[in-house]
Amino acid sequence: MHIDIITVLPELLQSPLSHSIMKRAQEKDLLTVQVHNLRDWAVNKYGQVDDYQYGGGAGMVMMCEPLANAIEHLQKNRKEDDSGGFDEVIYLTPDGEKLNQKMANQLSLKTNLLLICGHYKGIDERIREHYLTKEVSIGDYVLSGGELAAAVLVDAVGRLIPGVLNDETSALTDSFQDNLLAPPVYTRPAEFRQWKVPDVLLSGDQKKIDEWRHEQSVKRTKDRRPDILDKDTENS
Ligand code: ADE
Repeated sequence: MHIDIITVLPELLQSPLSHSIMKRAQEKDLLTVQVHNLRDWAVNKYGQVDDYQYGGGAGMVMMCEPLANAIEHLQKNRKEDDSGGFDEVIYLTPDGEKLNQKMANQLSLKTNLLLICGHYKGIDERIREHYLTKEVSIGDYVLSGGELAAAVLVDAVGRLIPGVLNDETSALTDSFQDNLLAPPVYTRPAEFRQWKVPDVLLSGDQKKIDEWRHEQSVKRTKDRRPDILDKDTENS
């Protein structure tokens, strides 16, 4: 999978994408992420990419021209490398569709994604109308820009690409993959300050352990997220 990201703050994306599983995914060439500075397509030598909004009001709006030029340039690059262009052009925005595991699963099957990070009051509506295929929010709160949201999306999607995680089953047993939260986990020692690991996990009886884990998952989901429990197919 290849992901291009357009941003005015490329530095903000460097660290989250260069450690741990995201680092490994890129080292294994299963994922490539290219971060592009929107100012490379600025409208003047001052690096301008935003302007006052029509109708008045506080806050700047990201202009059409730099964004349109950046998107078209990257689209052309992706077509030339024989991959057929972007599967999705995604704008990270608090008024987008809420990211969940189902969306992450679907996006992990794509080949080329373009992510656009907004800033200030957002991007000119005409860019939204003419270029985007998807608008994604990571939650009902407003961040200072789309970069952290883009990093969240890349992480959630990137770890699902086959081969990225060492143990293939570990993504399958994640919370949300089967509409259930993950069960509690324990490691050594078996007793710490008189706090004991449940006996069943030490029993060596895999059938019983699996049953216990399932019961715990159901209990945890009922207690904490009853809203996801009845969704039959939504996360698949
Ligand atoms: N940009 C600002 N806030 C955001 C959010 N909650 N999700 C996605 N992009 C954003």
